Amino acid sequence: GTNNAQAVRVDSPLSVPSDTVDIDWDTIGFGLVNTDYMYTSKCALGGSFSKGELVPFGNIEINPSAGVLNYGQGLFEGLKAYRTEDGNILLFRPEENATRMTMGAERMCMPAPSIDQFVQAVKATVLANERWIPPPGKGSLYIRPLLIGSGSVLGLAPAPEYTFLIYVSPVGNYFKEGLSPINLIIETEMHRATPGGTGGVKTIGNYAAVLKAQGAAKARGYSDVLYLDSVHKNYLEEVSSCNIFVVKGNTISTPDIKGTILPGITRKSIIDVARDQGFQVEERAVTVDELLDADEVFCTGTAVVVSPVGSITYLGKRVTYGSDGVGLVSQKLYSTLTSLQMGLTDDKMGWTVK
Ligand code: COI
Repeated sequence: GTNNAQAVRVDSPLSVPSDTVDIDWDTIGFGLVNTDYMYTSKCALGGSFSKGELVPFGNIEINPSAGVLNYGQGLFEGLKAYRTEDGNILLFRPEENATRMTMGAERMCMPAPSIDQFVQAVKATVLANERWIPPPGKGSLYIRPLLIGSGSVLGLAPAPEYTFLIYVSPVGNYFKEGLSPINLIIETEMHRATPGGTGGVKTIGNYAAVLKAQGAAKARGYSDVLYLDSVHKNYLEEVSSCNIFVVKGNTISTPDIKGTILPGITRKSIIDVARDQGFQVEERAVTVDELLDADEVFCTGTAVVVSPVGSITYLGKRVTYGSDGVGLVSQKLYSTLTSLQMGLTDDKMGWTVK
């Protein structure tokens, strides 16, 4: 942790276990694997975050009246570290996650760590858990920063104290389909977000709100749910855990950022990569009709990466894309993005951080 002295207080040298971990990297999915260390730092309302500490990964102690437990004052982030063939460890655009946490904290009346503290803390946490980073091409180390109101409140108000915590877990594919196309159903009764609400920030409550429709969809054999806007019930918003893109000819369209969908970092990166490859990319309101009429559909997210969509079901009618297998555009964008993230191609965008 010597190069991360700014964000982490290490009183005695951290002992980073070097023995190899007992994991079958070929069958790893997206579930929690306990790792060695987590990072924590605290802050009083109106104050600034302390130099954090790396402590053994485990349960945290929290007062039952903590703001996050009672009123949902909390945010999370997600990013990944990749091990490269030449022995480096790469993060993908960590300052973007730091910036998004700052924006979300403002909406949720919380103090946020500085961009620098966030990035340094992520680096320190990854290095302390280095043995859990999958070998090149076998997955990644998923990094989960949390910002929570950890101080006690009873009356509805911002918590008096906040905790910034980072834990990590090795992960493989998010959907059980792996890289095969997923099957989505459009939810027409329940909504994820509403104008003026918190849909545009990564607050924990947005994710609890989708569990009911997601559970019902899974019980009927679908991979996940696609949400529509709550006003017109006609424009695409996002899938429970990822953004959505629609391909028609050389044009790729995705819902624009206007407060009700999550401003995904993979979303933003795919827009740039697609433009660089000569596609016309449009960020605008996208209708259900356009979706049903598309040549190809795919989802993006840190966890899901680029996930091709094989079918959409809307009001009982199922539309399928492609004959079988992954669409060409999704395939191309997936390979370009992941090659960059894994350090296999020249990072001309300057997106990876060693
Ligand atoms: C991510 O893609 O990192 C997310 O935060 C989505 C989460 C529901 C797994």
